Amino acid sequence: MPLREASLLHRLRALAPVLVLAVCSCGHALAEQRTLSQDWLSRKGDAAGAEQPAFPDGGWQRIAVPHDYSIMDRPDRTPPFDPKTAGGQDSGYLPGGQGWYRKHLALSGADARRVLRLHFEAVYMDAEIWFNGERVGRHRYGYTPFTFDLTGKARGGDNVIVVRVNHVDPSSRWYAGSGLIRPVTLELLDPVHLAPDSVFASTRTASPKKAELDVRATVVNRRPAPARAELVSTLFGADGSVVARERRRLTIAAQGRADMGASLGVDQPKLWSPEAPNLYTLEQEVRVEGQARDVRRTRVGIRTVTVDAQHGLRINGKRTLLRGGNVHHDHYMLGAAGWPDAEARKVALLKAAGYNAIRIAHNPASQAMMDAADELGMLVIDEAFDMWRKPKRDADYARFFDESWEQDIDGLVLGGRNHPSVLLWSIGNEIPEQGSPAGVRTARELVARIRKLDPTRPVTQGVNIDSPGNAAQFAEVDVAGYNYRAHLFAKDHATHPQRVMYTSESTSKDAFRYWEPVETVPWVIGDFVWTAIDYIGESGIGWMGYSHDWKQLGPYPWHLAYCGEIDATGRKRPAAYYRQVLWKTGIDPVAAFVEQPPGTADLPDRDLFKQHPELDWSLHDLHPSWTWNGQEGKPLKVVVYSEHPEVELFLNGVSLGRRRAGRETEYKAEYSVHYQPGRLLAVGYSGGKAAGQWELNTAGAPARVKLHADRRQVRANGQDLVYVTAELADRDGRPVYAQDGDRKFRVSVKGAGTLAGVGNGHPMDASSFQLGERSTFHGRLVAVVRAGLQAGPIEIEFAADGIPVQRVQVDAVAQ
Ligand code: GAL
Repeated sequence: MPLREASLLHRLRALAPVLVLAVCSCGHALAEQRTLSQDWLSRKGDAAGAEQPAFPDGGWQRIAVPHDYSIMDRPDRTPPFDPKTAGGQDSGYLPGGQGWYRKHLALSGADARRVLRLHFEAVYMDAEIWFNGERVGRHRYGYTPFTFDLTGKARGGDNVIVVRVNHVDPSSRWYAGSGLIRPVTLELLDPVHLAPDSVFASTRTASPKKAELDVRATVVNRRPAPARAELVSTLFGADGSVVARERRRLTIAAQGRADMGASLGVDQPKLWSPEAPNLYTLEQEVRVEGQARDVRRTRVGIRTVTVDAQHGLRINGKRTLLRGGNVHHDHYMLGAAGWPDAEARKVALLKAAGYNAIRIAHNPASQAMMDAADELGMLVIDEAFDMWRKPKRDADYARFFDESWEQDIDGLVLGGRNHPSVLLWSIGNEIPEQGSPAGVRTARELVARIRKLDPTRPVTQGVNIDSPGNAAQFAEVDVAGYNYRAHLFAKDHATHPQRVMYTSESTSKDAFRYWEPVETVPWVIGDFVWTAIDYIGESGIGWMGYSHDWKQLGPYPWHLAYCGEIDATGRKRPAAYYRQVLWKTGIDPVAAFVEQPPGTADLPDRDLFKQHPELDWSLHDLHPSWTWNGQEGKPLKVVVYSEHPEVELFLNGVSLGRRRAGRETEYKAEYSVHYQPGRLLAVGYSGGKAAGQWELNTAGAPARVKLHADRRQVRANGQDLVYVTAELADRDGRPVYAQDGDRKFRVSVKGAGTLAGVGNGHPMDASSFQLGERSTFHGRLVAVVRAGLQAGPIEIEFAADGIPVQRVQVDAVAQ
């Protein structure tokens, strides 16, 4: 892992996660939040009667949450893929189906008498929940949070939570996963407490001298008598100092609620921005009769956002271009299980590759993702839906839209509105009814509902129709998202000069074309590539190109889209290096890659499939390798990306000439080089002086494996993850990339952790993710290890025939 990425993650870990905390120095129970992560029992398939508390669940599998049963091997340990599943190419041939979860929850008599709220951050999809045998409700959408009030239903001793998930295929155009994909928490509250979703902190004004923060909250009294409460709102700086405080006395009727609104002034605020993601903590304490009953901490950032066609997007008054990428929610070898560390790693990878914005495609973001975005300085477009009333797939969310959209919009906005990283709300992506009167009407309803809960943020929609249909649709939103439609920008600006536009989806190979308007006109504020990180599902679209007959694409065992500029394991592909150069990030200002010579491809030949000239998600077939056995003396195409205006290529010390690599050549220079093994060196020149370089070296046979753990310490909390990257090297330590160098490894974990998954990023390797037996792909393999609940060393071992065994140790420490 590059140093920069590692240090970002390190920084991320240094920041305490803050949502709701309980601190009690008083004599009675204070509000508390328990994460229900461990000791769930799971079973795939139907289990008639399993909602009954006494149901015999002894044979069920013990799992930790977040969990995705679609990615798990079958009981006979064969991989979960099924070429015949109804999800087909969309889901990467991974089936959904029904699944059950049971959790025995031990509560003391006192706890059982408290106000209890059971919160699910997301269950994919159509979940039905029982508590102690009583059906407490249902939630349809797979990506939005929901809460049940269990007050009065619990007992001292064993309680049983049961969840049935009814994931009917085909439900999605991408791999969605199945089950308890995001955290589950139990809140234990005093009858007088802050309504959890009521807190809303937003910046009214901010300058380097002074900021004003609007804070709203609601205090609930569930006692049969009125309550006199005090609400103390304190804003803490990152160093723990008190920045502002406000006290409010409230009289709350029996079984009533009281709203409060306050304004907190901050002198010389440390503003939040992607470059300086400064955070504050708002602590709100409810006191009754002088005693604290509830303390809720919400992390906030102080920043202003404006968008208009004259000045573009400005954050704290400063023009900001959105260097964006789309991301889906799966974590490849972990499936859709939204482990907080996996979510944070994605954000860190993108930040380290020069991105400052992500569009969460096409569903609401997780809390962990937004927390990481807040901490690292990543702007987020948080998207509600991929469809409204008209379906895209037979069993998708359109079935539930009418009954559920209001609740889902509320979940989106209430879950995201305190995150400074959230920039725009998106009401949808390529909605089938876009541009029609029905589509416009629905957009209006969605936007109105969003604005009621958050009037501070602009609303957008990702649209993929040409004029004139888009005019009516875009009239409903503040910022117009164009999918693959840079050709409309100039035309639409002429007819709608006030419209603020951006590319909500673009193809990677056309990066230059999509970025150009962002750099040159203020009304185009950014570009979001499809996609920044590879994902499961839409199998093979990045290799084979687009065809209108989707059935032709990505037959089993294809299961990755393979259009991610960062591969599914987190490795930057050449397109990511180009983007860094295009965006002038200075991260790798010169980089050189080699086009795959005909007849040597390690994936089936893409010419088998029709290419569509306009819509094509394939990446240029380039590789970071100068090992091309059998190509001696033949011409190979070498492409150099450079931020510097001039480059020179050397093969084994001999110059192959200087070339221009500035804007006029789209920051690229191409060479045809007669292959001979050795060292290929690219040098970039600025002002005539060598300013950066990049080299590729011919490698021999793999002789060893180098291991890199992204951290050496985890908390023994059952949730922390460590990512271990294994890279093959020849006997002189040069990286081995060539396909004939790949080796199959056995990955094993001993001690205080367990193997959560192993992946190599190969879009056709449909072997087990959990078994620990997998080949490298282009010389690389990544294992994810999850901490257990006991402190102690975790030893992770990689073994392959003919390669000396390598081990890395990580320590799990008590929290
Ligand atoms: C877009 C769509 C994305 C993805 C992409 C590549 O049209 O919005 O979700 O499907 O095409 O296929």
